[in-house]
Amino acid sequence: MWYPSHVARAKKEIRQNLRLVDVVFEIVDARIPRSSRIAAMKQLLGQKQSVIALNKADLADPAVTSRWVQHFAELGHEATVVNAKTGQGVPELIARARTGSQRASTGQRRLRPYRAMAVGIPNVGKSSLLNRLAGRRSARTGERPGITRGRQWIRVAEDLELLDMPGILWPEHATDEATDLLCITGALPDETFDVEVVASRLLGRLGGTAPEALTERYGVLPGAPEEALTAIARQRGLLATGGVPDTKRAAQALLADFRSGRLGRVSLEEPDDELV
Ligand code: G4P
Repeated sequence: MWYPSHVARAKKEIRQNLRLVDVVFEIVDARIPRSSRIAAMKQLLGQKQSVIALNKADLADPAVTSRWVQHFAELGHEATVVNAKTGQGVPELIARARTGSQRASTGQRRLRPYRAMAVGIPNVGKSSLLNRLAGRRSARTGERPGITRGRQWIRVAEDLELLDMPGILWPEHATDEATDLLCITGALPDETFDVEVVASRLLGRLGGTAPEALTERYGVLPGAPEEALTAIARQRGLLATGGVPDTKRAAQALLADFRSGRLGRVSLEEPDDELV
């Protein structure tokens, strides 16, 4: 879990690093772009340019993701779709960062590569994206002989460097609904919540939006979540002493299946008129 002191320290670090960069990659989870985006980011960013990277796009419904990109564009944000695991969308992200940086430095002669940093909540894919952007070709600039101290920059393109340490943001002041979504997607550690309660909420959502996912994988029809967890436990052979269905393990299995995409590509939030 996080503590106010962690949050304060992380924000301070991000603020310090922000001074060094021209553009920020705001990494969000494409399945929950609203809940995984940090409200405090706006204040932190000030006038700084940002590019929203809708990561884990392979796990989200592509049609919904496209609507999110359009939604962000309508609000004046640069947004692009990424899969940090495979690198899909990364060239587009670099191109957007370049545009954003150029916009930030209009009229000024560029004496050094543009600089970017990535920020996002835990588990959203920051390290994966950094590794992807670093690639095989790029050198970590700090690894050059003679440069050992200070911040490390990764050269991701001829004219773009990325800070080698992502900024971690914590979803403070999340609503109950957002907290549920952060638990479902794995942004919050499983030890910090009741997995059966959270899995039941996921079942409720899937029952409404993607019932076929449940039927295909577990053979259960959407209904009362408690009954569905029992049915999943039976179907998976997850039994406790005395052959009683182990609903806790069924809940863990359901969350693991959802998080790895085994229930298909499911978006849990849709853009609406609410300003993000
Ligand atoms: P973080 O630095 O923001 O905390 O996130 P990190 O990169 O460690 O990624 C968290 C998990 O999300 C990892 O899975 C990672 O592989 C996965 N991930 C990151 N980007 C994507 C993506 O675009 N698509 C998919 N499907 N998964 C993504 P893990 O299970 O913790 O590790 P691993 O077993 O994959 O190595």
